[in-house]
Amino acid sequence: MKELTPRKIVKELDKYIVGQTQAKKSVAIALRNRWRRQQVEKPLRDEISPNNIILIGSTGVGKTEISRRLATLVNAPFVKVEASKFTEVGYVGRDVESMVRDLVEVSVKQVKNEKEKTVLGQARTNADERILDCLFPKGDISSMSEEALKRHDRTRTKLRKKLKGGEYEGRVIKINIKASPMPFMQVMGPIGMDDMTGNIQDMLSNVLPRKDKTQRLNVEDAREVFINEEAEKLIDMDDVIKLALNRSEQNGIIFLDEIDKIAGSDSSGGPDVSREGVQRDILPIIEGCTVSTKYGQVKTDHVLFIAAGAFHVSKPSDLIPELQGRFPIRVEMNNLTKADFVKILTKPKNALIIQYIALLNSEGVELKFLKDAIQEIAAIATELNDKMENIGARRLHTVMTSLLEDILFQLPDKKITHVKLDKAMVNEKLSTISEDEDLRRYIL
Ligand SMILES: Nc1ncnc2c1ncn2[C@@H]1O[C@H](COP(=O)(O)OP(=O)(O)OP(=O)(O)O)[C@@H](O)[C@H]1O
Ligand SMILES: [Mg+2]
Repeated sequence: MKELTPRKIVKELDKYIVGQTQAKKSVAIALRNRWRRQQVEKPLRDEISPNNIILIGSTGVGKTEISRRLATLVNAPFVKVEASKFTEVGYVGRDVESMVRDLVEVSVKQVKNEKEKTVLGQARTNADERILDCLFPKGDISSMSEEALKRHDRTRTKLRKKLKGGEYEGRVIKINIKASPMPFMQVMGPIGMDDMTGNIQDMLSNVLPRKDKTQRLNVEDAREVFINEEAEKLIDMDDVIKLALNRSEQNGIIFLDEIDKIAGSDSSGGPDVSREGVQRDILPIIEGCTVSTKYGQVKTDHVLFIAAGAFHVSKPSDLIPELQGRFPIRVEMNNLTKADFVKILTKPKNALIIQYIALLNSEGVELKFLKDAIQEIAAIATELNDKMENIGARRLHTVMTSLLEDILFQLPDKKITHVKLDKAMVNEKLSTISEDEDLRRYIL
């Protein structure tokens, strides 16, 4: 994290997201500020609250994409939740505290993975010993004479060398595998208490007898199984949980998508679940409260919240004032222009054009887009966004699939090795659709 300066974060995000400079800057600063806060001495440190952010932008401009990339970038526990999925306490559905529980769950998994990596060497050694036991059973050591013991040790050392040299990899051995009982069992807990459900499930799986299964595996596969089991034994789960809880509290990031869907008062009346109620429920979590999870208590004071929403129908000012106040940073995302579309088609590591080239490559076809073709695709997408609903960069997906439909359908029956698309071809394929209003409405 120390190396992850705001500039670097933006640079990393640039690899996948075109434009949206302000949004990238804000998340980068917020992220860095958490690290800075941790360098501050204790009494003051606890006073510094996170820079919660609202990303405002219409659909398909990269709100979710930024959060997804941020998640992979930082080594912080991260969850993305949809605000619209929550219901007020007392109603059927997920209660808002579950987002914190999810965060802890992610954190525990993450820490456990890291710990597993550090004990991997030892786990491998232990696993090899167990394989030796299977290959050449030890027998009863206690009844052996000293002489016999020495001999036994010597053979084992020899065999260990051979095992390391890979001489037994193909040999099949019989091993015991701990099977988890009834993996398909689902437990329905009391309504609205989804944490309870998890607890009941955990409890049952501990109570029910674990059946050991004997399985025949070759040494190579058996080693995988043993390494996992040994690693599990070497890790101190209490340690993991302690660290994981701490990490969720200090570094956790919760991305609240679709926050606009819970904005606005309930003028509709009816049996709707109150949105304002959900907002009120979310309040304390953002403000900082203690949530109990199955691993222990978590304080949410320093969890960073990034909210996102299109805010077409409602506005941020429709959120209840208390909630507005807890998101001090507002960032408007820009609508994407034709120039952005050209970049989105070509620049990101996972750009659409690169994807299609790889797809056709699997059929042995070399797909090429000429520059003017890309310009034309971007122009058509922009035009369609203007004329119909603006669905942002997602328009590129629909345009591209229409454009390439014939080729994708004809391969591999049609014997071709090269496809080169230029402006004229793009126009030919798409003009009939984009000019006919009815067709356009349904297809693009
Ligand atoms: N600025 C951008 N740069 C690169 N790709 C983008 C950009 N904006 C959107 N995309 C692409 O468009 C698609 C949709 O983007 P995303 O999921 O981020 O939309 P969103 O802003 O979350 O929309 P919604 O409000 O509907 O959830 C993704 O596949 C993403 O790769
Ligand atoms: Mg989204």
